[in-house]
Amino acid sequence: MPEPAAASPEAPQPRGDHARGDRGAARTDRFAARTEGMTASEIRALFAVASRPEVVSLAGGMPNLAALPLDSLADEVAALVAQEGQVALQYGSAQGVPLLREQITEVMSLEGIRAHADDVVVTVGSQMALDLLTRIFCDPGDVVLAEAPSYVGALGSFAAYQADVMHVTMDDDGLVPSALAATLDRLAAGGRRAKFLYTIPNFHNPAGVTMAVARRAEILEICRRHDLLVIEDNPYGLLGFDGQIYPSLRSMDPENVVYLGSFSKTFASGLRVGWALAGADIRDKLVLAAESATLCPPTFNQMIVSRYLATHDWRRQIKSFREVYRDRRDAMLHALGTYLPPGCRWTRPDGGFYVWLTVPEGVDTKAMLPRAVGARVAYASGTGFHADGSGSRQLRLSYCYPTPERITEGVRRLAGVLEAELDVLHTFGSPDRAGARPAGSTGRPARGPQSPSPDTT
Ligand SMILES: Cc1ncc(COP(=O)(O)O)c(C=O)c1O
Repeated sequence: MPEPAAASPEAPQPRGDHARGDRGAARTDRFAARTEGMTASEIRALFAVASRPEVVSLAGGMPNLAALPLDSLADEVAALVAQEGQVALQYGSAQGVPLLREQITEVMSLEGIRAHADDVVVTVGSQMALDLLTRIFCDPGDVVLAEAPSYVGALGSFAAYQADVMHVTMDDDGLVPSALAATLDRLAAGGRRAKFLYTIPNFHNPAGVTMAVARRAEILEICRRHDLLVIEDNPYGLLGFDGQIYPSLRSMDPENVVYLGSFSKTFASGLRVGWALAGADIRDKLVLAAESATLCPPTFNQMIVSRYLATHDWRRQIKSFREVYRDRRDAMLHALGTYLPPGCRWTRPDGGFYVWLTVPEGVDTKAMLPRAVGARVAYASGTGFHADGSGSRQLRLSYCYPTPERITEGVRRLAGVLEAELDVLHTFGSPDRAGARPAGSTGRPARGPQSPSPDTT
């Protein structure tokens, strides 16, 4: 048999799309129908530009890890390899490391949840739990209910399994019970029923609101009445700025609620450790589905989380995260109040990472995004958080990652872009008909003080 020719560094290597040519096009025709729902978000399309250092990104939801005790974590990781390397670097149980599952029950007890470690399934971030739950519950065309707006990653999973998302209205107190009841009645009248309600009760992504405690029992009662499973997604629950912790839906109705938690926002998102807490019937299916997806979650990462929980004052660490995020929330709310033109409305989060902004009638936040990035500020436009294409008058602003100074500057730039849109709108009726104008060229005096940009000084 001839030796395979060694790849020569001089010889051009087939790379990327050029090499694929027509054969690549033919292959994409063979993709499963479910891949049609898999599309990149708008912010992903702009990612290369939006992640340039001169752009203030208020778009992403990256936690701020600067407050983590990296030195002592490094010692802990070294000790893990030295003392337990043979276990940490090995395959593990599909359900997750038993000690970590015990510790997770302790974390959940802060929210009033009484659980047994046997009912915890560790997943690769809570994103994977969302994917697995959709996989085990949804056939194409099945209905799932979600708040309007809702978490983009959940909508991605629902789309990937071709579920039909029906949005339910929210207000400043979260999901509106009467809207939920009306949606369920409408579905029943049409001979359909939903597979589950997906809800983010605390410090909502992207809406920044929290489900009022007084509503929780009512919502659970409506779901029980309609025999509707609830998926409670709660990655931000311990990040209330005044240290407040709301009673979890799971603690109020253990029989009918699957709870999703994560260490991404309270410890380290890169470790990708989250979990689901579910009754035995769902738990067993989840474990089987997890096994076919990844065999087991990474043992090493789970053991790092486990050691961190055992050796660090993690409650105190969460408190220091809360303080960082509260300062940034304050900077954002102050900047919004200072710079934004009249006619804008925004939510006032008391925890979590996000503000949800509604802009004046006629402004399309998706169409405006390239102009904003041109003006060196990025956000996530509202349409990405709706399965039905609505949300064009909204956008999400994240305050978790940039410093307060950058947040202020980012909002100032955004205000300039909005002023420009409104100016064009008032003159021509529609920004798109009039063509794009660079932000800041409105001819109108800018609102607020013109501070030197931290990006350019
Ligand atoms: C509401 C919500 N759910 C789930 C996730 C996924 O988190 P992870 O997979 O990092 O645990 C996120 C991440 O931003 C989120 O905001």
